[in-house]
Amino acid sequence: MDEVRERMLEMVNKAESSEQPLSWFENLYRYSNRDRGQIPWDWEEPHPFLIEWSNENEASGTALVVGSGLGEDASFLWERGWKVTAFDISEEAVEWARHLHQGADIDWVVGDLLNPRQGWLGKFDLVLEVHILQAIPEEIMKRAFTNLAPMLASGGKLVCIGRLADESGIQESGPPWPLTWDFLNQIGEGLEEVEKHSSTIPGKEGKRYRAVWKNA
Ligand SMILES: C[S@@+](CC[C@H](N)C(=O)[O-])C[C@H]1O[C@@H](n2cnc3c(N)ncnc32)[C@H](O)[C@@H]1O
Repeated sequence: MDEVRERMLEMVNKAESSEQPLSWFENLYRYSNRDRGQIPWDWEEPHPFLIEWSNENEASGTALVVGSGLGEDASFLWERGWKVTAFDISEEAVEWARHLHQGADIDWVVGDLLNPRQGWLGKFDLVLEVHILQAIPEEIMKRAFTNLAPMLASGGKLVCIGRLADESGIQESGPPWPLTWDFLNQIGEGLEEVEKHSSTIPGKEGKRYRAVWKNA
């Protein structure tokens, strides 16, 4: 196991036995001292599945980027003409992203998917979640995902991207904890299914999914 992952797992384990199981995100961002090499999920570019989706769907409007990390996906959507709000539970991630993407007119917010702002309900033409649900423990994640769909405006799309679980049913020790289609189907309950895509990405481990639903 590489050093960066080992350190992350130490932080995860410590946080899990505390009152604040998600506090390790803030700790990891702060520990990194703004060295992107210390952030295990940072690809330093927008997710290829988001680029592909955007190329195939000429759309714009209001977008909410959930768990925006270092802001590559938020910045990409802004460049494509979206009016973007991006939030993350980590204050340091939000400040760092704001600094990295100074030229982008994005509303960067510190926020928690478990307790989203009331003003966001029913407001967004696009809600984007990349690698968040798979990074949080199951019992918390099950409360978190139910908050995604309610933030969609009428006709809005929910796009979720992440690691797909191995069909063998073998549980990987996470994070990340890859998700199954059975679980992913629950996210879209009450919405119209638009797309369920999965494939590998050159140079990246494991199979990935992109699931898209519409608030019809
Ligand atoms: C695995 S990282 C992915 C970051 C980014 N989306 C990316 O793809 O690079 C998960 C992100 O979700 C954030 N996060 C975790 N729990 C959250 C929550 N409850 N509300 C908002 N953000 C959360 C973390 O701080 C972290 O930035």
